[in-house]
Amino acid sequence: LCDTILSAVYLSSRCTFFLSPSMDVDMWHHPATQANIKQLQGYGNQLIPVGTGELASGLEGEGRLAEPEAIVAHLEAFFQREQDLQGKHFLITAGPTHEPIDPVRFIGNRSSGKMGVALAEAIIARGGTVQLILGPSALSPAAPGLEVIRVETAQEMYEVALAAFPETDVAILAAAVADYRPDKAADQKIKKTGDTLSLTLVKNPDIAATLGERKQAGQLVVGFALETTNAEANARDKLRRKQLDLIVLNSLAEAGAGFAHDTNKITIFARDNKARHFELKSKTKVAFDILDTLVEYLD
Ligand code: CTP
Repeated sequence: LCDTILSAVYLSSRCTFFLSPSMDVDMWHHPATQANIKQLQGYGNQLIPVGTGELASGLEGEGRLAEPEAIVAHLEAFFQREQDLQGKHFLITAGPTHEPIDPVRFIGNRSSGKMGVALAEAIIARGGTVQLILGPSALSPAAPGLEVIRVETAQEMYEVALAAFPETDVAILAAAVADYRPDKAADQKIKKTGDTLSLTLVKNPDIAATLGERKQAGQLVVGFALETTNAEANARDKLRRKQLDLIVLNSLAEAGAGFAHDTNKITIFARDNKARHFELKSKTKVAFDILDTLVEYLD
């Protein structure tokens, strides 16, 4: 019963969990335990390290419940760090965009919105406020200090982002915006007629480049890049062309990174040419890495 209640609370929660394990030394060192701990950390849970010393079995070693002082110190360190974005207002674009072909069809992409939502939640946890401009994603994020504006098309996302930008300290453009849209959405469902169907596509406005251009002193603009060839050169080129301060390159070479996954492997390139490489980790942890880097560039 206890396990069921715990699972129900844990699985339905959206906040960070802190784990403070305690068990006998051999249980602690067993590969199954270590693999499970790693998996739980991968979901963004925080591990409070076990203590070392006398155990209930009479053995000595690792596995003691951390001392209460150590638990409190760990929590304090976590929450102090987390408040470093207090007073900062963020604008985030996330998810795909849908470009209508007719009333029932659209051009879209496989973006889930998970990275942008993880960023929004991490910012809120660190004391910032967020306006999340979310394309058609299955996620429905909610948190105090989080304003979610749902949009459908690139043009709508562009208009909302531009209107919100003057009040923004940092814009993070995590959306997979469709580069092109059908020049005209048909009013009625297109009927199947000939063997081929041609659509004329026209270019959508570039949100990142427009915000980069309009950026005032003190504002930061952060972009994402997902590349299949010449990844670093293309990412650095986008950083420069769109006048970004940072660009986050998603690795497509790594299993578990990129669209739709819960994990991601990134490299961050900065306007000062610095590159920071990170391991494959949960999108929650990736969000914290991005924010840690970004804080260095906030005035
Ligand atoms: N972006 C945007 N508006 C667009 C297109 C892209 O804000 N219309 C942003 C993305 O959210 C991302 C960055 O620009 O932060 C790079 O997106 P990407 O699609 O890689 O760039 P493109 O300029 O479209 O380049 P490519 O030729 O590789 O498609």
